[in-house]
Amino acid sequence: MSKKICVIGTGYVGLIASVGLSDFGNEIIGVDIDKKKIEMLNNGISPIYEPGVERYLKRNLESGRLQFSTDIDKTIQDSEVVFIAVGTPPKDNGEADLSFVESVVKSIAKNLNSYKVIVTKSTVPVGTNRWIKKKINEFAPGKEFDVVSNPEFLREGKATQDFFHPDRTVIGYESERAKEVMFEVYRALNLITVPFVWCSLETAELIKYASNAFLATKITFINQMANLAETVGADINTIAKTMGMDGRISPKFLHPGPGYGGSCFPKDTMAVVQTGDKFGVDMSLISAVIEANDRQKDRMVAKLEKIVGSFKGKTIAVLGLAFKAETDDIRDTPAFNIVEGILQKGGKIHAHDPQAMDNFEKIYPQIQYCHSEFDALKGADAMVLVTEWNEYRNLNLRKAKELMKGSIILDTRNLLDPELAEERGFTYEGVGKG
Ligand code: UGA
Repeated sequence: MSKKICVIGTGYVGLIASVGLSDFGNEIIGVDIDKKKIEMLNNGISPIYEPGVERYLKRNLESGRLQFSTDIDKTIQDSEVVFIAVGTPPKDNGEADLSFVESVVKSIAKNLNSYKVIVTKSTVPVGTNRWIKKKINEFAPGKEFDVVSNPEFLREGKATQDFFHPDRTVIGYESERAKEVMFEVYRALNLITVPFVWCSLETAELIKYASNAFLATKITFINQMANLAETVGADINTIAKTMGMDGRISPKFLHPGPGYGGSCFPKDTMAVVQTGDKFGVDMSLISAVIEANDRQKDRMVAKLEKIVGSFKGKTIAVLGLAFKAETDDIRDTPAFNIVEGILQKGGKIHAHDPQAMDNFEKIYPQIQYCHSEFDALKGADAMVLVTEWNEYRNLNLRKAKELMKGSIILDTRNLLDPELAEERGFTYEGVGKG
């Protein structure tokens, strides 16, 4: 039987969960304190750029199964299942900030008018679900409820695809009653035989951090190998491809680049280290990954400076500002290090990104934003490819050469064919290509 569910928080995770769970046939109310966002969502407009999301948003709004509201109290009272999907940003010491979660927990406790299953979708440190349970028991003694940990594994840019076809669904639970409710919530996924992992609260919480920390480590590993390859005259693409042929390694997440960014890997790796510190467990591997990733980001600026010479008086075309393709998200993007490094040393920037320029401009209003990659290339001494947008993969190099003043390419994602670039008269530098 479909469930009455509210999803608190309409950020990335909350929005996708709202549209996805309603598409599964549940009745969903998405809640947020941001009135403007709620108005946009009720009009079928997504506040974030994410391929496919508006189609599902409109479809489920039209069906009447999905709505959005700012009235948190009433929405909780009317729901049997309450998903917590608010942000858990890092504090200065790397620890996850749970203040948004805590304020939601207070609202839930205040409105616990019947049995409810409280599901945490936000990425939260080990022990948080047990802490939520304790808090609600304190605020609303004697009330019936269960807590469930249900981490999300979707990727930005591929969020709808990941939600509807996950590799696995993880559910940390304690009572059979909650298990039955969650089974109904995700009935649609059960029907398509997605593997379900039923486990303890702590195991579910740690699966999420372990997965992200492992992927961040894998990327950092290939980045360091790329640095070694380019120094000794080897080719990282062939190395990564061949490593990936070993089924134990897999070819995924072995693409070298300017360092990982985004709202998850940087935050979650720091949180893992923090949890290790808290419990006195050595997490030095993850600490090393964090440091190596920071160095990788700065390494790109150093590489560019080496080929360009001094940045003073030079114009650099920066193609790509988002932390990866198919998103307008710029959180912890390597583009920050590159732009900052060039500006600090007296360079001028022409920037282009198909989606992320508005967001970037709020932080760097002083650089020139261009309508197309070719506008950005006009008169530039060098181009740096930062984000792997498809349109950059097929960049017309003949046209680029005519427009640019200089002939330098730093391709931090290995998008272009080095031989073709050189044939077109460029000095080409990739990552891990000796
Ligand atoms: C990541 C995880 O992949 C999701 O499974 C998880 O749900 C999500 O974090 C989260 O915790 O919410 P996301 O941050 O959207 O997803 O993006 P990814 O595709 O994982 O990329 C992260 C960073 O790694 C990007 O900067 C990307 O460019 C970089 N990357 C990725 C590489 O440099 N090389 C690769 O081979 C893969």
